[in-house]
Amino acid sequence: MHDSSPILMFDSGVGGLTVLAETRALLPGAHYIYVADSAALPYGDKSEAEIAARVCGLLGRLAERYHPRLICIACNTASTIALGMVREVLETPIVGTVPAIKPAAETTQSGVIGLLGTAATVRQPYVDQLEAQFATGKTLLRHAAPELVVAAERKLRGEQPDSAAIAAAVAGLRSQPGGERIDTVVLACTHFPLLTEELAKEFGADVAFIDGAQGIARRIAYLTRCQAFTRPDSDLAIITGDASHDTALHRALQHYGIGRIARL
Ligand code: DGL
Repeated sequence: MHDSSPILMFDSGVGGLTVLAETRALLPGAHYIYVADSAALPYGDKSEAEIAARVCGLLGRLAERYHPRLICIACNTASTIALGMVREVLETPIVGTVPAIKPAAETTQSGVIGLLGTAATVRQPYVDQLEAQFATGKTLLRHAAPELVVAAERKLRGEQPDSAAIAAAVAGLRSQPGGERIDTVVLACTHFPLLTEELAKEFGADVAFIDGAQGIARRIAYLTRCQAFTRPDSDLAIITGDASHDTALHRALQHYGIGRIARL
């Protein structure tokens, strides 16, 4: 490992930038490679087998090419499905993103927690386990909100997110039995913190939002605590789809400190 060995952050799209921002705040001197598997976005409507094969294959290639000091799977869908498998095949330390049910259970006063994620995430046994382990005695209401992934991708590119999509996601939780008592919402998809403002308006002022980004950043800082860092002039994004004409994306990546884009 060299001082310039990167921290590699992986997501299906731009959602992982919310994790990158928190990590950079703790480790400003590190070199980051941000990977968006936009050719396969969205992951949320794919099968477990498809997601696992895709994530393991891509991360294997990326690890071989870029020799990262650490890989962060900055995607709840990929992590809840493929984290164990990726850890089995790669020697690089891997940090995953899991729905922040534990802190939500510690925060709720009403005892009713909402969880917004992709369709693939909300059905995972991993989420059942987190609920059983950390939210016994509480009610966890889940809702799959794929339309928020689209809204977040748009917002990051400077477009107005679709207000009907925000309203539909909130209604998906509020309309469930007990939904009117939700006071804490887990944003179990890394895209969704990009929409916190819009979600807060729709849910109302007395609902708190919790995501895993700060916890992941702390974990990465801890795992790299004795390491030296040098950062090149600019970080690198690797996009699996053709993003050459996506100038709004290039601008957004620059805003997150990424000045170079390559295609995988
Ligand atoms: N950002 C991803 C997550 O955290 C999901 C988006 C997608 O459906 O690809 O789950």
